[in-house]
Amino acid sequence: MQPTDVQPADAELAQDQPATVKKTLAVDIGGSGIKVLILDEQGNPLGTRDREKTPDPATPDAVIAIIEQLASQQSDYDRVSVGFPGVVRQGVVFTAVNLHPLWQGCDLAQQLSDRLGRPVRVANDADMQGLGAISGQGVEMVITLGTGFGTALFTEGQLVPNLEIAHHRFRKGETYEEQLGREALKRVGTTTWNKRLTKAIASLSHAFNYDRLYLGGGEVKQIDTALPENVKVVSNVLGLLGGIKLWQSAETARR
Ligand code: BGC
Repeated sequence: MQPTDVQPADAELAQDQPATVKKTLAVDIGGSGIKVLILDEQGNPLGTRDREKTPDPATPDAVIAIIEQLASQQSDYDRVSVGFPGVVRQGVVFTAVNLHPLWQGCDLAQQLSDRLGRPVRVANDADMQGLGAISGQGVEMVITLGTGFGTALFTEGQLVPNLEIAHHRFRKGETYEEQLGREALKRVGTTTWNKRLTKAIASLSHAFNYDRLYLGGGEVKQIDTALPENVKVVSNVLGLLGGIKLWQSAETARR
């Protein structure tokens, strides 16, 4: 929808003036760090990315306090997009395996909006990253490799929200996240982790028959295995840049 805040009486005046550009504060809540960056309407970064360690325990109050602090150090913004590491429906958190049980049922969009005084949209972190990475054509899948194992799925640019592969059984009685999350990487080292990643890609390729797979997240730097031709490593910054798309996507709007 086009902005409709220019009234007819103002229209002539507005012709000579640049349209108001909405600035979006993009927030990525991760298991180890919370990152923020302000974006223009095209999703280009304005200013520099800032980061704080995820608090321990990562309760809603503690995490929201850090976001508030990071936001206060940024220049002004009009709205907020949040990537959250769990299942989120209409701004409300359903799961947060790597944060804290108190997140269950937390209306993060509402709570953050009350604190920051701006409208807030929240999506699963892999969904937000994917929105920044995909081409919008065909079936596209995204995996994020960080504390957890994030997954996102799109068909012709449309998000299938909250695809949760992480906690499904993968191999040797363990889930994808138990085999490929940061804990596993530290425990088994990069060689074994890369072998597991190759197997996970093959397994997901057979299950989803995607046209393209994007690999993002902080641990993509550990990838040293050859990847199939339709698999591409994307920058971790896309986790934030995808924030602009939450304001163009019907799935993430509160209804
Ligand atoms: C969560 C996902 C999340 C992923 C990456 C998993 O443990 O269940 O929702 O996308 O970690 O943060």
